[in-house]
Amino acid sequence: MQVYLNGRFSSRDDAAISINDRGFLFGDGIYEVIRIINGRLFRLDAHMRRMDRGLGVLEIPFTGQQRAELPAIMGKLIADNRLEKGEGTIYLQITRGAALPRTHAYPPDKTPPTVLVMASPFVPVKEILEKGGHAIMVPDIRWSRCDLKTINLLPNVMAAHEEKKRNAGGVLMVRDGFITEGYKNNVFAVIDGVLWTYPDSPYILSGITRDVVFEIAEQEGIAVRLCPVGEKQIFKADEVMLTGTITDIQPVVSIDGHRIGAGRPGPVTKRLQQGLRHRMDTE
Ligand SMILES: Cc1ncc(COP(=O)(O)O)c(C=O)c1O
Repeated sequence: MQVYLNGRFSSRDDAAISINDRGFLFGDGIYEVIRIINGRLFRLDAHMRRMDRGLGVLEIPFTGQQRAELPAIMGKLIADNRLEKGEGTIYLQITRGAALPRTHAYPPDKTPPTVLVMASPFVPVKEILEKGGHAIMVPDIRWSRCDLKTINLLPNVMAAHEEKKRNAGGVLMVRDGFITEGYKNNVFAVIDGVLWTYPDSPYILSGITRDVVFEIAEQEGIAVRLCPVGEKQIFKADEVMLTGTITDIQPVVSIDGHRIGAGRPGPVTKRLQQGLRHRMDTE
């Protein structure tokens, strides 16, 4: 696999970062995952806007020529890794760069950020998309800036570990009695025909797929309510689903052993899945 690191294309094995890198030492950086479909990058502009916003909030200087070159770098990696046909993902990570001494405060502005871009094949898990997953709830132990897509992912990693240990298919995180989101996806519930999801806030990442779901809902005449769903209330939902770049729209058919709706993917979920697939295949 060919990757891009700090201005150089190389094989994955030859790419290495400094031990002084603040991404490595502090988790001081942000990332994006973008879907590649037949060589095209789905919703690239939205991902770049979210990245620029995160870099701005964190004051990581990544502008000018290097920033402008990113789409071309992704295009070259797609070609070099033969991803012009079929499905893939771009992984993009920008950290505050390598700086000495190791102090918490931001280093001088001239410190170049570390920029890593990788392109890999991706195979959606068809079975869970068709049949749905048996999800679990875990406490949302994350910080109060979940709106930033930072590489500080330990609570998410722990949630994924719990999912694996319990042989579950999906995790719903709970903060103050309400479902916030998954560890790598947003959560939607269908209640009396209305699509509920947690509002934009510092407690969730505003997913690009979530925005696509809003678009499809509007087109299909499905009402949306930006309102948190309670941890007990969700058991009574007619449908529940997870949405994300590598999740697509995954039905949730049970939560902590409670059956959701009829215990199989519901009609609203299926309509949204079709709408997303159509957009991914045609945009
Ligand atoms: C915590 C979290 N929420 C939501 C999402 C979904 O965002 P997107 O649809 O942009 O992939 C992600 C994606 O990785 C995530 O990590």
